[in-house]
Amino acid sequence: MTAQPASLGRRDLFRLGFGLVAATGLAGCASNGGSSGGGTPIGPNSPKVAAAERARQIAGARKTSVKLAAVQSEVDLGGITASTWSYGELPGKEIRIRRGDLLNVELRNELPQPTSIHWHGLALRNDMDGVPGLTQDEIPAGQSFTYEFTAPDPGTYWFHPHSGVQLDRGLYAPLIVEDPEDGGNYDTELVIVLDDWLDGLGRTPDAVFDELRANGMPGMDHGAMPGMPAMPKSDLLGGDAGDVIYPHVLANGKVWKAPQTFATKPGQRIRLRLINAGADTAFRVGVPGVPMTVTHADGFPVMPVELDVVLLGMGERLDCVVTVPDRTVPVLALAEGRGQFTQVLLSTGVAASTDSEALATELAKLVVPEMNALRATDSVALPLREPDVTHDLVLEGPGDKYSWTINGKAYDPADGLPIRSGQVVRLRMRNKSKMFHPMHVHGHTFQVRANGKIGPRRDTAIVLPGRELIVDFDADNPGQWLTHCHNVYHGEAGMMAVLSYVE
Ligand code: C2O
Ligand code: CU
Repeated sequence: MTAQPASLGRRDLFRLGFGLVAATGLAGCASNGGSSGGGTPIGPNSPKVAAAERARQIAGARKTSVKLAAVQSEVDLGGITASTWSYGELPGKEIRIRRGDLLNVELRNELPQPTSIHWHGLALRNDMDGVPGLTQDEIPAGQSFTYEFTAPDPGTYWFHPHSGVQLDRGLYAPLIVEDPEDGGNYDTELVIVLDDWLDGLGRTPDAVFDELRANGMPGMDHGAMPGMPAMPKSDLLGGDAGDVIYPHVLANGKVWKAPQTFATKPGQRIRLRLINAGADTAFRVGVPGVPMTVTHADGFPVMPVELDVVLLGMGERLDCVVTVPDRTVPVLALAEGRGQFTQVLLSTGVAASTDSEALATELAKLVVPEMNALRATDSVALPLREPDVTHDLVLEGPGDKYSWTINGKAYDPADGLPIRSGQVVRLRMRNKSKMFHPMHVHGHTFQVRANGKIGPRRDTAIVLPGRELIVDFDADNPGQWLTHCHNVYHGEAGMMAVLSYVE
C-alpha cells in the first residue's frame, strides 16, 4: 500500500500513451505557429522531472508528513446535515508548510470510487501533480498513495481530487506555504474557503453531471418550469454565471445563518486568504465599510491596491489585508449572479450595526474592478518578451451532450500541445461561448498580459465570453501538464488540454 505498485503501472501507461502521441498527436500541432513540433513527450517518470525536483530543493528544508483519508462522512453546514465525501471535516484541515519544505502526504482512499489529489497552483514535480491517466494511475478504493514533493513558492494554495466531479463534494482543503522572509504587514491571518454546495441534500454531483449530459444544455427544463429558480446570470461575468443550481453557498463550511465567528479586536490587521473552492460559482467578496488591501493573487504578490470588492473565479485565490473597525463586521461572499451569499464574522464583541442581508444587497451593486488588471510586483513579474511558441486555446460549448471543448476537441491526454524546456510560452485563450471560464494551468504560474501591460502572476484567470486573454509563462518545469477550465462540469465535459513538454 505504498506508491510503489502504482508507479510501476504508471510507467506502463506512459510507454503506451506516449507512443500514441508521437505517432499521431504532435504533427497536427505545428499549425499552431510553434517552433517546437515533433519530439518525444517528457513523461512524469522522466529523469528530467527528477532533475527539476532536485534543482528546487533548498538547504535546510524541513519535511512535513501528513496522513490524510478521503472518507464518506456527515458534515454540519450550520443546522443542515449533508452526507458527503471529505477529508474528515469541511473544509479539510489546512496543511501549512514553509517555502522549500518537502511535503509528504499519505492519502488513504476510503471512498467507493478511485480518487487522487491535485495540489492546485504549486510548481511541483510532475509525477506528484495528481492527474489520473496523465501523471499517475488513479488510487483505487481501499488503497493508499503517497505524494511527496518540494513546495518552491510561498502563497495561498489548496488541494482537491482530479477525479470526475469529486471536487464538487466536500473534498478540498487549504495548503498554505509560508515565506520565512515575509514579515507581513499584518497581525494575524484568516483562511476563508468558499464553496457552492449541493451534495448529500437529495442530489450528488455525479447525478447533476449526468443530468447536464442528458439535457445537452444547462437549465433546459428548469428555465421553462414555473417556480424553479432561474439560471444564474451576471453582467460582470458577461452572461451565464453558472450551469447548476445550488441550494447553499458556504464560507469555511457554513451557510450565512450559522457563520464562523473569528474573534478579533479593533485595529487588528488581518490577512484574509480567500480561496474559491466552488465548482460552478464565482464569488464577489467584500467587508462593507472596510477597504481591503489586495496583496497576492494565486499566491504571488501584486502591487498592493485598496478595493471595496474583489472577484474570485473557481480555483482562484486572493490575499487581502483588512483593518478591523470598532464593531463586528462580516466578510461577505456573494455567489455572483445567484442572489445567494455567505459570510464569516470578524467579531470585536460589539454588535454589527447593520444586518448582513442588507449589506449583501449593497455589495451586489458595487462595481467590481478587473482582477486581471492587478499588477505583479517587480520581484515576480515576468518581463514582456516575444514568445518562442504560441498556442491558441479556443474555448467553446456547450455542444451536443453538454460537451465543452478546446480547439474544437474534447480532452485527449494523448494529444498534447508541444512545448520545450526553456521556451517562453504564450497561451492565447479565446472564449467563443456565452459563459466565463476560469482557465487554470498546472505546474506553472503564468504572467497575465493585460492589454499589452503586465498583469498579475496567476495560475487561474477568468476569460470572459467573447474575450481573449493572453498569458505567458516560462517553460521551466518539464512534464505533462493540464490546462483546463476550473468549472468542474466544463472540465469533466471535455474542456481540458495537455501542455506537453517534448524533447
Ligand atoms: Cu484545481 Cu486541474 O485543478
Ligand atoms: Cu468553463
